[in-house]
Amino acid sequence: MTDTMTNTTTNTGTGWRFSENASLRERNTFHIEAKARWLLQIDALGALPEALSQPEWRDAPLLPLGGGSNLLFAGDFDGAALAFNARGVRIPEDGDEALVRGEAGLPWHDFVRWSLDAGFCGLENLSLIPGTVGACPIQNIGAYGVEVGERIETVEAFDRVERRFVRIAKKDCGFGYRESIFKHDADRYLIVAVEFRLPRHAPLKLNYAGIDEQLLAMGVATPNARDVSDAIIRIRQRKLPDPALVGNAGSFFKNPIVPQALAFSLQMRDEKTPVFPGDSADTRKLSAAWLIEHAGWKGFREGDAGVSPNHALVLVNHGNASGAQIMQLARRIAASVQEKFGVAIEPEPRVIGATW
Ligand code: FAD
Ligand code: EPU
Repeated sequence: MTDTMTNTTTNTGTGWRFSENASLRERNTFHIEAKARWLLQIDALGALPEALSQPEWRDAPLLPLGGGSNLLFAGDFDGAALAFNARGVRIPEDGDEALVRGEAGLPWHDFVRWSLDAGFCGLENLSLIPGTVGACPIQNIGAYGVEVGERIETVEAFDRVERRFVRIAKKDCGFGYRESIFKHDADRYLIVAVEFRLPRHAPLKLNYAGIDEQLLAMGVATPNARDVSDAIIRIRQRKLPDPALVGNAGSFFKNPIVPQALAFSLQMRDEKTPVFPGDSADTRKLSAAWLIEHAGWKGFREGDAGVSPNHALVLVNHGNASGAQIMQLARRIAASVQEKFGVAIEPEPRVIGATW
């Protein structure tokens, strides 16, 4: 059988397949060429233990791969990349608040729109985020005033330490700003499905800057959840480069959480410095985009590695940049932000083949 993504011969088990020396260029939104020694594709979730236990790669490093929209390949992956193809949706409980279960391989935005069409709300602010349902808990995806952890009831995963399927309740997921236990214990859990608690009716969250204005521009006076989704899609299309047109992984840096005193001193220097609540009373969140723009990097380009002219937080691959070139640019940007503002910024995407 020939795999159209990799152009290599694909061998088949029951419910899973693999190819060797597989190109990942079409599997990461930076569109960076990198190879995985093996690419395992899991078509049926029940086949996962058998696929993982094959002697060739049983003890090799494993890289779960969703849409590749939060990954930077700074080198090849000498191990097994693992893609989930299962895309089923079920509604185990229905009512005013339903329980909706999505399998790992479902494209996130399709799932959000499906949920809205089915009359559920709660995910509308997270519209148009690339990637898969399986990856959404990893960094607790967030946008426009909502984090997905608020809507998650249970994460279903294969625990590679205990070698069994487990159900992890939201309270044990360690969700925070771009944080979860899954991110920290990246080698332990393979997420196979996520259960969401979604209401049929809930107050809309319209506080994030720009949502009201966008709804107004659309002529919507009394919005419903679908209107909010439409508004957010438009805002995002305006602000962020489309990875189909120019390679990127969204925000390349997390917004730094700093001591309150540092945030105040930056505001003393420039009263326009944006400052947001932190994760405790004595911390504040700063805008990495603002710091990078004010360090002079917005729109910068060297070869094919650059900073988006539309959004200073988005590093872009204009064509044939390597992961190492993107990393080198990221390091220069972080060093200059540190020097100018005394603030350390850290990458949001997982970097393969280099350390920060
Ligand atoms: P991948 O990039 O494939 O993987 C990301 C990490 O999750 C890796 O460590 C990977 O090993 C792990 N992983 C993937 N699947 C599994 C699984 N099934 N089990 C265990 N581990 C797994 N993020 C936001 O939070 N908010 C935004 O607004 C946002 N906007 C974006 C806009 C653009 C244009 C782009 C390109 C990215 C944006 N992102 C945003 C980042 C990204 O879309 C999310 O982090 C998304 O959840 C990544 O999903 P993915 O399937 O592409 O994961
Ligand atoms: N700003 C600039 N220059 C820019 C862009 C933004 O100075 O080029 C400043 C402005 O002051 C603006 C502020 O940054 O008001 C915030 O900008 P934006 O609303 O675009 O949000 P962000 O902090 O840059 C975060 C997330 C995004 C998410 C948006 C919307 C992080 C690291 N990024 O970006 O998530 O979509 O908020 O909620 O938290 C991602 O994680 O990949 C991602 C795109």
